[in-house]
Amino acid sequence: MKRNAFFLLLITFSLMNSNGETLRELAETRGIYIGSASNLRLQTDKQYADVLGREFSMMTPENDFKFHKTHPENGRYTFESGDAYIQFAEKHNMQVRGHALLWHQATPKWVTEAEWTRESLLDLMREHIQTVAGRYSGKLYAWDVVNEYFEQDGSVRKSVWSETIGADYMEIAHRTAREFDPTARLIVNDFDIAKINKKSDALYEWVKDAKQRGVPVDGVGFQMHVPFNYDFDEVEFLANLQRFADLGLEIHITELDVRIKEPVTPEKLQQQATLYGDILRACLKQPACKVFVMWGFTDRSSWIPRFFTGFNDALIFDREYKPKPAYHTLKSVFANKN
Ligand code: XIL
Repeated sequence: MKRNAFFLLLITFSLMNSNGETLRELAETRGIYIGSASNLRLQTDKQYADVLGREFSMMTPENDFKFHKTHPENGRYTFESGDAYIQFAEKHNMQVRGHALLWHQATPKWVTEAEWTRESLLDLMREHIQTVAGRYSGKLYAWDVVNEYFEQDGSVRKSVWSETIGADYMEIAHRTAREFDPTARLIVNDFDIAKINKKSDALYEWVKDAKQRGVPVDGVGFQMHVPFNYDFDEVEFLANLQRFADLGLEIHITELDVRIKEPVTPEKLQQQATLYGDILRACLKQPACKVFVMWGFTDRSSWIPRFFTGFNDALIFDREYKPKPAYHTLKSVFANKN
């Protein structure tokens, strides 16, 4: 009896205590990093900086590590912004995900509109990776090397990189990234791959073959920009994650946000919270899932209203930095309460 009473007290106490903990403290007890995309608001908005540093153990610079930002003109690189994230992360003991060395949408005009041969574009790609990955070597948890390599049907997306160099540009980019940053995990990042479909199958075949041939690849990044009424199928998701885990890869949720169709109602906020919780719970069930990053944390600063007409409020804090239901659900999932 006495023994039971003691454990009951212990459990009650730890449940009470979890309310006072931050997301990052709870994530740490479960052995994963919890993160957010962030932008340079962290230099000007004290509340933004406070919440980011307090709640998250990882960050992904939302845009400033992309090609058009770090390499705006041929021969000119800018690192002022990039360095600011590293400084913030060091100060707050956070990990940083580098995003991304190559992405078709972030390739500046001076690249897409110039004339290249395979050799000259390979030289440029190598110089870019050497300069950017080299500069941050030892400071990053991971790099998304090529972002969104695949089309929905599993074919290789047409871009200046694939058209001029060939489909092997991704393999060469991975080898080059490893050469200049031997410690960052090298990740293949894409959207619409949470389900088993043509795109996730193609990605699976690519990483499996890469692993077999010794091409450096350490993990898969699942973006997961989803609507509040997304039909999340945990069984299918876990089966999908398992096949990647079986290849020895790390799994990162890299850009989760759950957009709500306006008008926003309490019911929709609850549905959003449930979905955030379901995805986190699945991640916690898969030991290879080490990273859970959301694409921002406050509805004050999100790409959603600019990119999805009629949708908004996709994140876990509101515009005034008040925690939303989703924030509390994530906490209780971490604390094992549901
Ligand atoms: C988005 C940023 O959030 C926006 O600010 C920017 O204008 C465009 O890019 N998938 C990705 C991210 O991999 O890099 C994108 O980020 C969102 C979709």
